Amino acid sequence: MTALGLNLRRVYGAYPTGVAVVAGLAGGRPAGIAASSFVPVSLAPPLVSVCVAHTSTTWPLLRELPRIGISVLGAHQEHVGRSLGSRDGDRFAGVGWRSTADGCVLVDDASAWFDCSVEEQFRSGDHDIVVFRVHDLDAAADVPPLVFHASAFRRLG
Ligand SMILES: Cc1cc2nc3c(=O)[nH]c(=O)nc-3n(C[C@H](O)[C@H](O)[C@H](O)COP(=O)(O)O)c2cc1C
Repeated sequence: MTALGLNLRRVYGAYPTGVAVVAGLAGGRPAGIAASSFVPVSLAPPLVSVCVAHTSTTWPLLRELPRIGISVLGAHQEHVGRSLGSRDGDRFAGVGWRSTADGCVLVDDASAWFDCSVEEQFRSGDHDIVVFRVHDLDAAADVPPLVFHASAFRRLG
């Protein structure tokens, strides 16, 4: 990697984010990734976005689904962030989850959740900017969020 590439990772990582799980039922089984690029976009219509790397092997499965769940992880769910962000293994092993009638996969006890469909998708560099329409959502007032900063999982405070 070039010096600029190394600096991009380090300096992008200076911006703290939450950690979301983007997931759906693919062939009857849960499939998903961890994403720190989740951003609320629009109130009317209700839209949110996630940037997905072109190298993702899971996104091609998810993008075909009618509904996709986005769960904002709580501070107590670092293990879920690590598992969903890993490249190998059964990512949902040991992770409590539920599916909606529409096929969203939502992580149990998350800080917030969104029931979404893909609205539009733009190629941008080595990622796609995926815009989702929100059909339903809720947040747990008593679950503080998990934070990702400088390549590490952290808690607020
Ligand atoms: C904390 C964290 C945040 C991540 N954020 C993103 C992201 O915003 N976009 C993305 O494409 N991958 C992100 N990843 C990587 C994916 O979770 C996943 O590892 C990657 O898509 C490779 O898996 P796949 O080939 O099954 O898609 C993140 C990983 C971690 C651990």
